[in-house]
Amino acid sequence: MHLLHAICRRLLDQKLAVASLLFAFITAIVSLRFLIIPNLQRLNLRVGASFYDYGFYGLYPSRRYVTFDYESPAVNFVQWDSQCSDAYTFIAPHGGVVEYSAPMILDSRGNLVWMKPLFDTPEDFRVQEYLGEKYLTYWHGGYSSGHGQGSWSLLDSSYSHRFEVKPVGNLDGDLHDFQITENGTALVTIYDVKPHDLTESGGAKHGYIYDSIFQEIDIATGSLNFEWRCSQHIPLNASYAGLKGRGWKREDPYDAYHINSIDKDPSGNYLISARHLHAILSIDGKTGEILWILGGKQNEFEDASEGRATNFAWQHDARWRSDDTITLLDNTAEWFFDPPTESRGLAIVIDIPNRVARVQGEYFHPGSIRTTSQGNMQDLPGSRNVFVGWGHCAAYTEFSPDGRVLCDAHFGPSTWFTLGNVVSYRSTKSSWVGKPNTNPAAVLIRSSVFVSWNGATEVVAWRIEQWDGVDMDDMHFEPLKVVKKEGFETKIDLPQGVAHVYFRIVALNGQNEILGMTGVMGEQLDWNFRDFVRSYSVGVFSSGVVISFVMIGCCLLQGVFWTWRVHRSRPLSRPGGYRAVPLGSVPE
Ligand SMILES: *[C@@H]1O[C@H](CO)[C@@H](O)[C@H](O)[C@H]1NC(C)=O
Ligand SMILES: *[C@@H]1O[C@H](CO)[C@@H](O)[C@H](O)[C@H]1NC(C)=O
Repeated sequence: MHLLHAICRRLLDQKLAVASLLFAFITAIVSLRFLIIPNLQRLNLRVGASFYDYGFYGLYPSRRYVTFDYESPAVNFVQWDSQCSDAYTFIAPHGGVVEYSAPMILDSRGNLVWMKPLFDTPEDFRVQEYLGEKYLTYWHGGYSSGHGQGSWSLLDSSYSHRFEVKPVGNLDGDLHDFQITENGTALVTIYDVKPHDLTESGGAKHGYIYDSIFQEIDIATGSLNFEWRCSQHIPLNASYAGLKGRGWKREDPYDAYHINSIDKDPSGNYLISARHLHAILSIDGKTGEILWILGGKQNEFEDASEGRATNFAWQHDARWRSDDTITLLDNTAEWFFDPPTESRGLAIVIDIPNRVARVQGEYFHPGSIRTTSQGNMQDLPGSRNVFVGWGHCAAYTEFSPDGRVLCDAHFGPSTWFTLGNVVSYRSTKSSWVGKPNTNPAAVLIRSSVFVSWNGATEVVAWRIEQWDGVDMDDMHFEPLKVVKKEGFETKIDLPQGVAHVYFRIVALNGQNEILGMTGVMGEQLDWNFRDFVRSYSVGVFSSGVVISFVMIGCCLLQGVFWTWRVHRSRPLSRPGGYRAVPLGSVPE
């Protein structure tokens, strides 16, 4: 008691200690108030979510493969219905926790079909038709403050790179839209830094803005058909984006418009979405004149749905559904701390001559997602189902035409959606036939073989074929066994003995035709040390590890031997003590 008292007195005497305690306390309160609590609030914690959605399997649950070097998302279907389209899903996940950013194709149950990891960021991955042929299209490039600097790639059905499209002039291609028209042209978005007087918005006189531009480019010739600049047609005060101290430097321009989609109607006029204007604009395809504006501060339409047809905000992906109907993804908010709202897929019928807008359909996520950036809405051909990609939130949902949720898939845990660790700018569904010009990949492990073929959509079964053992220079193979293809990678258990002679695996389509085959495989039965070391070592490093283990083993053996020898040579009794004598002999 006395000792404790003494210690306390000494501590209290030291003013430094008191000051540090106080400082630690204040730091704890401040970080709780401004760091920990706000971030906990951002989590979408729900009672009764699955382990997946709480994040117990990680922030980006992934699948690994034996035959493929990369990981793909383990997609979690929260809801599934057989009425969902069996077309493929196209996403391009990336983000802080995604190791391999890649455009990727998944089947209707979320299994990987194809992926191509990129060094730069992929966006807007989907199937488009160019001059009657289907292509995979995606943007790739560098990313800065909500838009991109890059170009657009087109891959054909063999996944060969066929076209790279860049804007005309000394401009970078932006990630937001690359829409191919029926005439073989591409509609593309571009962000260009431009000097602008910002005094009316409360900014610099000699300031800078991001001008939002779109171009129509002929893909084959690279020539420019049309170009349109927001700054020449729309005043800055139509924007909802606050200046927030921007626009003083060239490196930090004011993004007043934020164009993010372009569509073209059969009469040749353009439809653009400008996120920061909360508006959809129709633009004359010849003169560039604005024909009408739906939504935002310059809205021209009367709202026949009590405000719900024109109150969309921070939206994406405005497309013509028919002559008089537009679909879009209404984000409703710009960032997490905006008042609570719910994002929706939205279909709006517009009467252009009379300037009247009416809601045709609304599509909400079953978990009331609010995605503060990115996202898209797609009418699925055939079924008339509606497909929504939730952009900033790693989820996609398929709805029946009347707005009922049929399928809902997550490719990241929903509790963490608002943090945007895993995003896919768009998610779409399309039919696709992929015939890669590679060979299937196979790996033999003991008596099982794993086989996959990145991007091959037509394979339904794998056939094991064994060498007939006659001529090694002109090998003939006999069919042994046919196994149904399962997901991305199929594990096949080989019949007894097959692993030790030559065999190969042949890919078969639905008509039993051969699409491709692996190289000849098989492992010798005779065991030898060199092969053993080789099979467990790759390169110098692993060989070093094996050698180290052998040396450690030798040292251990040596140690054991030494101990045994020392022990054996030690006299069993100390001099002057008791002495063991042979039984029967009596010491003198
Ligand atoms: C924007 O400024 C113009 C004048 O430059 C003015 O006529 C218009 O009313 C303003 N619009 C808004 C939404 O403040
Ligand atoms: C395609 O070209 C035709 C003929 O020039 C034109 O009438 C039509 O509007 C164009 N369509 C698109 C989507 O550009």
